[in-house]
Amino acid sequence: MSQTSPFFDTEFAEQFAQLLRWRRDVRHFDRRTVAEEDMRALMTCAALAPSVGNAQPWRFVRVRTPDTREALAAHVDGQSALAASHYTDQAQQDHYLSLKLHGLREAPELIAVFCDEQPEAGHGLGIATMHEMLRYSCVLAIHNLWLAARLRGIGLGWVSIVDPPAVHALLDVPATWSLIALLCIGYPADISDTPELEQRGWQQREPWTDRVFER
Ligand SMILES: Cc1cc2nc3c(=O)[nH]c(=O)nc-3n(C[C@H](O)[C@H](O)[C@H](O)COP(=O)(O)O)c2cc1C
Repeated sequence: MSQTSPFFDTEFAEQFAQLLRWRRDVRHFDRRTVAEEDMRALMTCAALAPSVGNAQPWRFVRVRTPDTREALAAHVDGQSALAASHYTDQAQQDHYLSLKLHGLREAPELIAVFCDEQPEAGHGLGIATMHEMLRYSCVLAIHNLWLAARLRGIGLGWVSIVDPPAVHALLDVPATWSLIALLCIGYPADISDTPELEQRGWQQREPWTDRVFER
């Protein structure tokens, strides 16, 4: 069983910190396509994620047809308009509407990520009391994919302004799958170390120390 582990030196640690700092949610894509070899590399990295009971519950649906892409984009536009209508403050509603919250029409690659809520793998280990561990496992796979994309200069945008049953029906997936995310993947039109929502004055990143508690 014993294997020689690779050694991650301080230079790598610094680069890894930079990778985390420069990972961005991307909504503006240029028109370059992503090589299939890179797409496969991203999904290979995603599949290295930890998962409850080693259940690997993530299911990736690659959106290949223009009609399906447009249907998803139109659906998100509709849901976004609905979300905007919930802001009673006019200035906040206008601000919301000025944000670009998806790149579903421009990104060269779209992946819908689902969680198989009844996976055969894992034999139910670890989900008796917290079934949602399956979904958390899928989120970790997405994060792997996100970082693997960024280190190749590829951007990822997570879209969640959806009505999950509608997306489920649009993509015709098994009833036991639940939607986790729509992912837009492609080369970013620009890049920054600052979240777009921070640049646009919506929400700043706050000190991590404000989020740590002791008991
Ligand atoms: C679970 C989740 C859902 C998100 N949904 C959306 C979305 O629907 N539209 C969008 O533009 N960004 C979405 N984002 C991206 C966040 O707005 C973004 O991560 C945050 O503003 C911080 O920016 P950064 O990822 O560039 O650091 C989502 C991110 C997460 C983790």
